[in-house]
Amino acid sequence: MQGFLTASAAKLPRSPLYTAIRAGWVCSSCKRHGASRLPALSSYQRSFSSSPARTTAAAAPKPYYVTTPIFYVNAAPHVGHLYSMVMADVFKRWEVLKGRQAYLCTGTDEHGMKVQRAAELQEVPPKIFCDSNAETFMDLAQKVNMSNDYFVRTTDPDHREAVEFFWGRLRERGYIYESKHEGWYCVSDEAFYPENMVEKRVDSMTGKPFIASIETGNEVEWTEERNYHFRMTDLKDRLLQFYKENPQWVVPATRMADVVSWVQNNLEDLSVSRPASRLSWGIPVPDDPSQTIYVWVDALINYITKAGYPMWTPGSENALGWPADVHIIGKDIVRFHCVYWPALLLALDLPLPKRILSHGHWLMNSRKMSKSIGNVVNPFFAIDRWGVDTMRYFMIYNGGVSQDSDYDNSFIVDRYKKGLQGGLGGLLNRVTRSKAWNFRSIIEQAHGQVLKPADWKLQHMQAEITELRRATECLSQNTADFFENELNPGRALKEIMEVVFQANRLLQHTEPWNLVKQGEVEAAHQIIYHAAESCRIAGILLQPFMPEKSGRLLDRLGVDQGQRTFDHARFGSDSTYGVSTVPLGEGAQSSLFPPIPAEN
Ligand code: MSP
Repeated sequence: MQGFLTASAAKLPRSPLYTAIRAGWVCSSCKRHGASRLPALSSYQRSFSSSPARTTAAAAPKPYYVTTPIFYVNAAPHVGHLYSMVMADVFKRWEVLKGRQAYLCTGTDEHGMKVQRAAELQEVPPKIFCDSNAETFMDLAQKVNMSNDYFVRTTDPDHREAVEFFWGRLRERGYIYESKHEGWYCVSDEAFYPENMVEKRVDSMTGKPFIASIETGNEVEWTEERNYHFRMTDLKDRLLQFYKENPQWVVPATRMADVVSWVQNNLEDLSVSRPASRLSWGIPVPDDPSQTIYVWVDALINYITKAGYPMWTPGSENALGWPADVHIIGKDIVRFHCVYWPALLLALDLPLPKRILSHGHWLMNSRKMSKSIGNVVNPFFAIDRWGVDTMRYFMIYNGGVSQDSDYDNSFIVDRYKKGLQGGLGGLLNRVTRSKAWNFRSIIEQAHGQVLKPADWKLQHMQAEITELRRATECLSQNTADFFENELNPGRALKEIMEVVFQANRLLQHTEPWNLVKQGEVEAAHQIIYHAAESCRIAGILLQPFMPEKSGRLLDRLGVDQGQRTFDHARFGSDSTYGVSTVPLGEGAQSSLFPPIPAEN
């Protein structure tokens, strides 16, 4: 084995890429686009430092940047993967609604033992295997109406270059050393586990004993090899200091506490390469092709690849969004994102992602939905059956952050009937379709009017109307708080739907159609106006969750395209709507949320 390194940076051999970058290297994609040569390395060193070059007076505000995990291509996607995708998309769309430039990155994790073995099993060359499976994830992103700006594949040349450069910088700074590694490796989790994190188990199907990770239950295998290590322990104090200064960095708080405790008690140096004789499907260590870079180091760097690393020049480091505003991840990959990733970034003095949102798992029959267990739901079939926005709505409404969630078709039907068909669809129909009033005239006349309940004969309705108005007035701010402070789109969605339900209750209690018959026209119009405003504002705020359906709802309300932003989600801010821009149609199928067809 050649080229193993000592800890001293001064003695390190230079990788060809690193040397090329020092000399003013141009990456392959930029060569294609005719970009000029990169600045010399000293510019990178200044980037993100505290030097004045970092902020210039003319610097544009940093775009919002949200990511999903990149998905292993060893197996087809399932509904659990869909959840991470929808979550991230909802965050991006929320920021766009608020008028901010926002980027969303998703993609596929294509290297490593797990993918190598899956390709071998199918007797397909790994790249061909990856091409085909990556396409399925791309199709899913499209099918679920994800507004991703990037789809990163770890086999992309620009990603490989970013990883090689990152590795060279770690090595130059003395963070990489050679050592013998003994331990339990889990191919399924692509992780080493120390002795105290594995146990003997018996396979319930075959009765065969095996050694498993206590955390994940997946089988581990003993390995003894020489490989490169990352001096993660050198970063322990800086990590702990960072957590202390950013106590809300990981959501939910319980997982933040677990991360801190893990770093305090278990932090070890990280094995960051595998012998190429065992793992050939990956990025070779620069200058030492006998070793392949550990798949998690390779994978984590995806987040900065599409943010332009290493092409960051002073003053424009943030142009593509880094540091990420939020990484969306499942709870099973917290350690990689909340310990390894910040340690790697700290080692290079690069900025850390601002927040990490770790969500719970989807369960089927009380077990984590997972290909290896075989209890997965095909997300393509689910979207075909229920519709894309129903699935998006259901996943965010029922999906957990702290808790896991059960998946069952009956839960989807229930959510659809109560929330969408009865709740949102019902409210829209009641305000827009009644023959008892002219909807547009109500908006025109009631707009801006102060409630004058004392004039009414029906004062007992006052409290309920005032209550709905108060809830509608607070809605956009409450929703923003759930998104931006708590990182909890599920709570935000429930908040919006609560106002929809409240508006429906008001209509049911006061029956404005009967008030009109009784000659209480002013009271009826006030009620309809308040319900319409709740519907309009809910429709605007629901756009990140259900882009298609909310668009159609706003069409039916006649809300102008330019009046659908967060700023318009204020009570009384729009007096121009009230005439549908689309034919309302007749019969059940004309409804925004038609009845679910009975199963044969
Ligand atoms: N490739 C790594 C991530 C690397 S990111 C630098 C990986 N891939 S994965 O395909 O196994 O998982 C991708 C995402 O799907 C993770 O956030 C994971 O938590 C999520 N889920 C996988 N199964 C899930 C459920 N049953 N429920 C919810 N999310 C689940 O990990």
